[in-house]
Amino acid sequence: MTTNINEMIPELSNPSVYMRDPQRVQEILQSMMKAGSNTLQVISDFDMTLTRFEYNGKRCPTCHNILDESQLISEDGKEELKELLNTYYPIEIDSSQSIEDKLPLMVEWWTKAHELLIQQKIRKDGIATAVGESEAKLREGYQLFFDHLHEHSIPVLIFSAGIGDILEEVIHQAGVFHPNVKVFSNYMDFDEDGVLKAFKGELIHVYNKREGALLNTGHFQELRTRPNVLLMGDSLGDLTMADGVQDMENILKIGFLNDKVEERKQSYLDSYDIVLVKDETLDVPNAVVLYLT
Ligand code: TMP
Ligand code: MG
Repeated sequence: MTTNINEMIPELSNPSVYMRDPQRVQEILQSMMKAGSNTLQVISDFDMTLTRFEYNGKRCPTCHNILDESQLISEDGKEELKELLNTYYPIEIDSSQSIEDKLPLMVEWWTKAHELLIQQKIRKDGIATAVGESEAKLREGYQLFFDHLHEHSIPVLIFSAGIGDILEEVIHQAGVFHPNVKVFSNYMDFDEDGVLKAFKGELIHVYNKREGALLNTGHFQELRTRPNVLLMGDSLGDLTMADGVQDMENILKIGFLNDKVEERKQSYLDSYDIVLVKDETLDVPNAVVLYLT
């Protein structure tokens, strides 16, 4: 008798779950399970993937928004950052424009936002308070997610176009910044007085994660004995996060579809194996991880 995927993982029959090809998902899962958890690595986006999109009907902040809404930014600075968000976020999620067309605009958004943040003379020692006072929330089930992966020594790469210093502080304050977690992101560079003077390294924005992945060959080289990947994202740009993985055998892609659901559902179904529609929890990723370990 063939097993049904919903018997393997009952959470896959949750109402938020959509799959273009459940049979294919089942095959990937079975193949990954057979290979064993010592061949698994997790690669996840941060904003709106590990963190909540909404809470009590209100949007939750991204890494950048945590700063935008904090006391580290002047009222004028807040206005300008909000204007940038209102201009460029609709472009980020617009399904009628190609990623190619959006590329220069995303570079423009990140560049302008980072220049503005630098003008604000943000202090390093204000970051923990800004994060503590923010409304940022990891998705329900985050504790099980991080703790379980740590217990099973499964490497987790958080690959974010947000701000590394901020996201590290979010997971640190949540008590889940375990040693198996590594972060690729935009990191702040502070001067000797602890004031933000620049951002380090190559800029990572939503649609150049492939380039970011290919710059970090050392990391993927270290993980070459783990050719099975669980990828989690909320943007179509997140699909390229695993492009640096060497000799990949299986990849299971879980996508959170948080916003503009009807316009974007088909493209998400075409590119993610499992699509979670307006699901604020990590229940499905957790069920997958528990199945695989
Ligand atoms: P992620 O790669 O961790 O999801 O982070 C990228 C998100 O950051 C992306 O969805 C847009 C968001 N963002 C802001 O909210 N404000 C900003 O100023 C910028 C540049 C990006
Ligand atoms: Mg995201």
